[in-house]
Amino acid sequence: MKVAGHFPWPFLTLVLVGGKCISLIERLQNELSPQLSGDNLISATAPLRWSDFDAPDPGAVVNVATESDVAVTVKYCVAQDIPFLAQNGGNGWATTFHLNKNGVVINLAGLNTVIFNADRTQATIGGGSNVSNTINNAYDAGALVLTGNCNCVGTLGAILGGGYGNLMGEYSFGVDNVLSLRVVTADGQLHDVSATSDPDLFWALRGAGPNLGIVTSATVRSYPASEEDMQGWAGDLVYSEDQLEDVVQAIQDLTLTPDMVIFLYFLADPTTGTPSVIASPFLHRGNATTGKAAYSSLYAVGPIADTTTVLPYNQWNNASTSLCTRGSFKPGWAAGFQNMIPSTWRGIWEAYVAFQKLPGAANSGVLLEAYSLNKARSIDSSSSAFPNRNVNFNAFAIPWYNDSSLDAKAAAFGNTARDLLRSTSGLPRNQTYVNFGHGDEELEVVYGDSLTRLRSIKRQYDPKNVFNQWFNIQ
Ligand SMILES: Cc1cc2nc3c(=O)[nH]c(=O)nc-3n(C[C@H](O)[C@H](O)[C@H](O)COP(=O)(O)OP(=O)(O)OC[C@H]3O[C@@H](n4cnc5c(N)ncnc54)[C@H](O)[C@@H]3O)c2cc1C
Ligand SMILES: *[C@@H]1O[C@H](CO)[C@@H](O)[C@H](O)[C@H]1NC(C)=O
Ligand SMILES: *[C@@H]1O[C@H](CO)[C@@H](O)[C@H](O)[C@H]1NC(C)=O
Ligand SMILES: *[C@@H]1O[C@H](CO)[C@@H](O)[C@H](O)[C@H]1NC(C)=O
Ligand SMILES: *[C@@H]1O[C@H](CO)[C@@H](O)[C@H](O)[C@H]1NC(C)=O
Ligand SMILES: *[C@@H]1O[C@H](CO)[C@@H](O)[C@H](O)[C@H]1NC(C)=O
Repeated sequence: MKVAGHFPWPFLTLVLVGGKCISLIERLQNELSPQLSGDNLISATAPLRWSDFDAPDPGAVVNVATESDVAVTVKYCVAQDIPFLAQNGGNGWATTFHLNKNGVVINLAGLNTVIFNADRTQATIGGGSNVSNTINNAYDAGALVLTGNCNCVGTLGAILGGGYGNLMGEYSFGVDNVLSLRVVTADGQLHDVSATSDPDLFWALRGAGPNLGIVTSATVRSYPASEEDMQGWAGDLVYSEDQLEDVVQAIQDLTLTPDMVIFLYFLADPTTGTPSVIASPFLHRGNATTGKAAYSSLYAVGPIADTTTVLPYNQWNNASTSLCTRGSFKPGWAAGFQNMIPSTWRGIWEAYVAFQKLPGAANSGVLLEAYSLNKARSIDSSSSAFPNRNVNFNAFAIPWYNDSSLDAKAAAFGNTARDLLRSTSGLPRNQTYVNFGHGDEELEVVYGDSLTRLRSIKRQYDPKNVFNQWFNIQ
């Protein structure tokens, strides 16, 4: 007889097996471990997550070493009715997680191989490879791969929701570069999924992947690269706060060519803690001359500091290292929108500085991203479940703090920023990139017109809704 229950002491959920109480870890050690590829793959804790806010809090962790470990673990958890969740980069900040001490985290970090084909036109990326691992492998192979712009992010975690990154002006979204996926679905079986083998699942995984299975690897397009292709001009242009309107207008007026990306940050100066306005331009294959020319309007505003420089591909993400810091509470509030409006951004600035000055909240930030979208818009929007192709800009507010007594003020800051973006979005309805969502959005906001078809594919492939932790489609 097995009776699951919460016991009053904090860290263990015990299960009664044959009259004896055992923890979830012991149970996995007894029942699951013998089926895994190694003896010591069960542990109590997972790698630290990016945000501790409303984070999953598992009772046990399976540190998979092979894709069949994933299949065996899913099959076991489904059969035993044990909730589970895959963890890749651990950057997901949404409040949709509800994994507690009854549940298992499947830590994918061991699946981090990245293998290129002979002509470097395809890369097979392990389900646990983070962005820096993927880029380092691509750099060594002499190829470029579409990834996110922060090294700590799970390469496929980002791609399965859409996949924005520095190279998307040239190569489109991550989802558009996926050729095939190996996926463990709710039946505990590994499937090779492509446009020809399983068109519905292939469509749905690219936009709503975490709802349908665990991707153990994905084969994506890669782009053989010359020395010059492996260079980018990037850095920070720092402005004083009274230049904000001019910076916002300059970004609105900028025409992004496919090799350009522009970010705008509100972040504290790391040495003084003073809130700053920072524009962060990127120019693929750029140098100081071509970079300054491409972003002449931002230079015309008169930055008070300029750290731009030419960097090799494997260092493009260096500047965002501090954003990868693990731990603390970092709930995010995001929205997509069509135009940069100075008065909207003044309002967001005011909400940001009011929160950021509170004790322990200095690291809080706001981030705006804009990419060249012509390439992405040349691809049929019904070719994947990703619904955000029409959106020009994405921004999010990140209150970053330690003390839960600030929760209400953090939410006020986040909601103020999101409401301002939404109310001036120029979009017919609220739209948020699923990977930036807070967790309180209606499903239509993150899945858009794909929701109806996603619901029917979800019912077919996950009828018992075991993949239910990430903007769960029901
Ligand atoms: C600092 C930072 C920078 C970011 N930069 C970018 C960026 O440049 N571009 C961009 O598009 N997004 C970016 N994001 C958003 C990012 O895409 C999401 O946070 C994404 O959910 C992170 O994936 P992860 O694997 O790191 O996180 P996790 O929390 O491990 O995963 C998030 C969800 O995806 C699921 N998942 C992850 N991997 C798999 C898999 N292999 N198979 C099935 N399900 C899986 C998990 O189960 C979970 O439900 C950034 C986020 C942060 C915090
Ligand atoms: C990325 O993963 C590698 C192992 O694949 C690890 O050594 C490294 O610390 C990780 N980097 C980040 C920034 O998370
Ligand atoms: C920058 O690149 C341009 C175009 O490739 C080239 O003509 C120029 O000489 C380069 N300038 C510097 C400073 O390297
Ligand atoms: C980028 O980071 C790497 C690894 O930490 C380091 O070796 C390199 O010097 C950094 N580059 C710059 C320009 O800071
Ligand atoms: C939060 O607490 C940790 C551990 O006490 C500390 O290292 C970190 O700097 C704190 N972060 C903030 C934003 O205060
Ligand atoms: C968009 O979200 C705002 C709250 O941020 C809400 O007031 C508004 O009604 C939403 N709009 C639509 C069309 O649902």
